[in-house]
Amino acid sequence: MTERSTHLQLGSCDYPEHVPADRWATYARQQRELGLTFVRLAEFAWSRMEPRPGEYDWAWLDRAVEAYHAEGLRVVMCTPTATPPAWLIRAHPEILPYDAQGRVRDFGSRRHYDFASPVYREHSRRITRAVAERYGQHPAVVGWQTDNEFACHGTGRSYGGASAAAFPEWLRQKYGTLDALNEAWGNVFWSMEYSDWGQIRPPVLTVTEPNPSHILDYYRFSSDLIRDFQAEQVAILRELSPGRFVTHNFMIFESGFDHYEVARGLDFATWDNYPTGMLEFFAPSGTGEDVKTRYARTGHPDLIAFNHDLYRGVLGGRNGLGREGAGTPNGPWVMEQECGPVNWAPYNAQPAPGAVQLWTAQAWAHGADVVSYFRWRAATMAQEVMHSGLLGHDEQPTRGYEEVAALDLGQFPVGPVPARVALLHDYESLWLYDAQPHSASMSYWAQTVAYYSALRSLGVDVDVVSADADLSGYAVVVAPAITLMTPERAQRWADAVQGGTRLVCGPRTAFRTPSGQTWAEGQFGPLSSLVGAHLRQYDSLRPGLEDAVSGGYSARFWAESYRLEGAQATHTYRGGPLDGEPAVIRHGNVTVIGAHSEALIRDVLRGVLEEAGVPTTDLPEGVRLSHRAGVTLVQNWTGQPVEWQGRTLAPVSFEVIAGA
Ligand code: GAL
Repeated sequence: MTERSTHLQLGSCDYPEHVPADRWATYARQQRELGLTFVRLAEFAWSRMEPRPGEYDWAWLDRAVEAYHAEGLRVVMCTPTATPPAWLIRAHPEILPYDAQGRVRDFGSRRHYDFASPVYREHSRRITRAVAERYGQHPAVVGWQTDNEFACHGTGRSYGGASAAAFPEWLRQKYGTLDALNEAWGNVFWSMEYSDWGQIRPPVLTVTEPNPSHILDYYRFSSDLIRDFQAEQVAILRELSPGRFVTHNFMIFESGFDHYEVARGLDFATWDNYPTGMLEFFAPSGTGEDVKTRYARTGHPDLIAFNHDLYRGVLGGRNGLGREGAGTPNGPWVMEQECGPVNWAPYNAQPAPGAVQLWTAQAWAHGADVVSYFRWRAATMAQEVMHSGLLGHDEQPTRGYEEVAALDLGQFPVGPVPARVALLHDYESLWLYDAQPHSASMSYWAQTVAYYSALRSLGVDVDVVSADADLSGYAVVVAPAITLMTPERAQRWADAVQGGTRLVCGPRTAFRTPSGQTWAEGQFGPLSSLVGAHLRQYDSLRPGLEDAVSGGYSARFWAESYRLEGAQATHTYRGGPLDGEPAVIRHGNVTVIGAHSEALIRDVLRGVLEEAGVPTTDLPEGVRLSHRAGVTLVQNWTGQPVEWQGRTLAPVSFEVIAGA
């Protein structure tokens, strides 16, 4: 394994198959001179590795790997399964996936495969074995990336073909009998009961909305397919490439599978960070076009930071150290870091001067041990010609390159992120929100990011962890949108509260049973005694319709009230259909905020944090603080200078300050 460095390291994603062979040695030398130490290779190179069935051509990749090796670069090799070649697809069209309209998604871009296809699974194992046999022991190869961005382009689920054929058997394994399935899904409603496993199809193309329990199980089934698909590759890589790490490059806010399940077999997680493109798709709900415009050249700090914190915790390890006992050399990483404009958003602005450095510093402060830029040289062919690189199309250094060259890596020591606050995250809850949003302006991510953002605006470091994680030792645990509750989960939360942790829940907490129904005894189901209340009413609010809350707050998009059974109301609704009913309740160390109001969330969290002895700082708009390894990173994400605590922070800049 590679040794763990004492400070942040850099790399890039390079594509020797895209340029003439005489460029390879030059690029490798330039990368070393720029201070890069890692290079990721070959994730889309199947058609060059195996141009015809069973006919491998390794000569070019051998030479490319040697070129990087000669300059001391360490190679992350990939399994090329995101791009099965034309000969394979035309020989076995049953590999192709189906969209939600029942149409085949054809060859001609990437990710055109169904995870359930037995034929594809065989070819995935075969090409993984071939590439691992060739490079598994190569001295330049320090680790592996499986495939590329599982579920990208909506490929986490296929709605026909192999997946449709495999779904009934997955259900039979889970439920044993059709009676049990019909009961769990509540199929008596609208006469949806099945009398034969073969009658069950994916939950699409129904006349009106499909049953949410059907959707939930289809999403679980699809997620299991990705987990199993990857596990087969990981087993082969472990066998043929001992001592090397295995990772995957996850995506921003990807909902298509359970990341905790899929990450389990890896040494650490990496993710692909595209701040400006991400903003166009994931700007916090209700914040509108003005926020997108204001942050168009940097991306929004909290959207980026959330993903860093998510992937730092996705293996269950605390504080950026990855899974315990895995011998993790480096982790987590940013495998693809934007270093100029992207090509895939509705608008693709030039990043602000300083943004590439700010993104790099932020990644480090949130636990990344390596930041690897996408891509070395801008592509001159095909789908991504409008995308940037560290070198332009003309091989000249871009602004991104110059910013990387000017970085002082010594100021970024590796070490733990000292979070005392955990924010809980759960893919099954996310899927239930998606299945029945009930308020078009509200979503799982919007609700989760609102709480996360409130914490960050108070200068607080956060571990994003699974709703089933070990919570002991956290001063405060925040559960913004954990709508699916199991008795075991409720017990863990109760144990944490018993141990002195303060728990803050958002609306819709514990609304649903594990099969997606509501609790017959009322929400909060098995969490009721901990919360000391039951849900009374909920109100879905269109933009412009608001429910006033005592203290001068106003709920947007969602408001719910409670029937107290031991808890006390700290805030109540004023006027409207929830008039006089509790909006925020408190039961010992447990608080539930039923009204969606950014100001209310922030004020309640500030109070709980102060009570728990977690220091807070009210930060100006666009200023953020992060802590790692005993140092503080102060960031200004705005385009203007900001006065803060006696300092003038330059536009789009950071300062590293000794002392956490
Ligand atoms: C990523 C992907 C890369 C490239 C990049 C462009 O999602 O992994 O292959 O397409 O986006 O921004």
